[in-house]
Amino acid sequence: MADILPRCTFAIISHPDAGKTTMTEKLLWFGGVVREAGMVKSKSGDYAKSDWMELEKQRGISITSSVMSFEYNDRALHLLDTPGHKDFSEDTYRTLTAVESVLMMIDSAKGVETQTIKLMEVCRMRDTPIVTFMNKFDRDTMDPFELLDNVESILKIQCIPMTWPIGSGVDFKGVYDLRTKQIMGFKDAENPFEPKLVDATNLDAPHVLSFIGQALLDKLKEDLEMVDSLIPEFSHEEYLNGIQTPVFFGSALQNFGVKELLDKVTEIAPTPKGRNAVLPPFDNTADEVFIEPSDNEFSGFIFKIQANMDPKHRDRISFLRVCSGKFNRNDKIYHVRSGKEIKIATPLIFQARDRDIVEEAYPGDIIGLYDTGKYAIGDTFTLGKKKIRYTGIPSFAPELFMRVTAKDPMKAKHLEKGLSQLSEEGATQLFIRRTTNEKLLGAVGALQFEVVKYRLEDEYSVPATYESVSWEGVRWLKFADKKQEDQFCRDYSSVIMEDTHGRLCYAVRTEWDLRLCMEKNPEVKFYKNSDYID
Ligand code: G4P
Repeated sequence: MADILPRCTFAIISHPDAGKTTMTEKLLWFGGVVREAGMVKSKSGDYAKSDWMELEKQRGISITSSVMSFEYNDRALHLLDTPGHKDFSEDTYRTLTAVESVLMMIDSAKGVETQTIKLMEVCRMRDTPIVTFMNKFDRDTMDPFELLDNVESILKIQCIPMTWPIGSGVDFKGVYDLRTKQIMGFKDAENPFEPKLVDATNLDAPHVLSFIGQALLDKLKEDLEMVDSLIPEFSHEEYLNGIQTPVFFGSALQNFGVKELLDKVTEIAPTPKGRNAVLPPFDNTADEVFIEPSDNEFSGFIFKIQANMDPKHRDRISFLRVCSGKFNRNDKIYHVRSGKEIKIATPLIFQARDRDIVEEAYPGDIIGLYDTGKYAIGDTFTLGKKKIRYTGIPSFAPELFMRVTAKDPMKAKHLEKGLSQLSEEGATQLFIRRTTNEKLLGAVGALQFEVVKYRLEDEYSVPATYESVSWEGVRWLKFADKKQEDQFCRDYSSVIMEDTHGRLCYAVRTEWDLRLCMEKNPEVKFYKNSDYID
């Protein structure tokens, strides 16, 4: 990727089956990365290469987030996939910390679905700008106004259509471009790069009538009048602030309306932004700093760790988002958590199924680092031993818990290693109970346990027993001083746990218990996330 190209780092979010995979494939096709449809994922095909993906295939769900890079319209794009399943919402949150904008897919027959609502809540937390694609117009859909109203009322975002659909399903004729006043014909578009355009500046011209027919022309005229009177102008600033979303209509499967969408994304999506970090001692007494992408020294953080992407290597890849400065291959970069400098000889960039070694990387780029188990989600890397830690990649209080013990006591060490690696990857959270040394897994969604169970057996050869523990949550604790900490830990010893970073947590047996404990200890602070943010 040429260093001069402005980066566009974005993710696709959708409810399962709305067409995220299909859209990804088409975007990569425009980016020249895949040559045929079906190369990204074929549910019955051979894409499920690794054992982890085998699980994905068995369950028929998309668990992994992947990163794909390509160039289009003089921008270097990094497209990050997000799991659609609600049980992996933490993974989604972390992915969204690495992007500047989002593409939201809606199944136009169904409107906003449950998972879209959840994902949108995550976008809201960061005011992420969103472009919307109303998919599947080659099938019967809701009326376009109804669809826009549905998104606006449920997701609380103002929809500004960029195109307008003419019919749907068997009657789908194409879309009317509200800016150029051209109709882009659906069926006649042989080459998606150059769709058939019908000039519709004068809707009364005979060729418009013969192209879409009287009934659809009447409806289009009526719709356009309503659009004109009801819908405000698109404002780039409101988009950047997450208030407005430009909306496109089309069909990902038929590669219709995708180019216009991608053109718009590359035109308006924000370039890399700065990120918040803290200085030593890295706890919540630490001073904050804001690191600009233009900062000369390289820095970045790990937002995703993926194991077994390629079963031939049985490797683990940590995905690093470059936040500032320039990274060069063979640079010795400083792993702030361990205090070690590490030479990165084979930084990777991903294109669909292929990976390449990248020579240099800039803010907004996502690079893959081979990882033998040393890195963890949220780890910061810098050049020149600069000691900062990026914030905003917290663990959230899990709501489901399992006690794990190896069936074979001789495998206790393997279990420990497996659990700690899987929790560093963010597959689940691991807590150690102080008094008993028990290992407890915490998850936001039950499927996370399934992934851990499968992988513990498959990769670490540890069959284990899993007993559910009826706790309601955890709280990360902060004390005024050591004396207070010691006293609290003595008083509540049975519910004191440590997370994998040794941070003290309180296990919530019931909300009632928690409230009582908080009332008795007003000086102690309880947080629902590991970043100690209220
Ligand atoms: P996801 O990643 O969001 O879960 O959705 P995915 O792209 O896998 O699409 C879900 C289903 O919807 C797929 O059909 C896909 O072909 C279909 N689809 C996606 N976009 C469109 C569209 O624009 N029009 C129509 N008619 N269908 C669309 P499937 O039968 O479940 O899978 P497959 O056998 O086609 O792979």
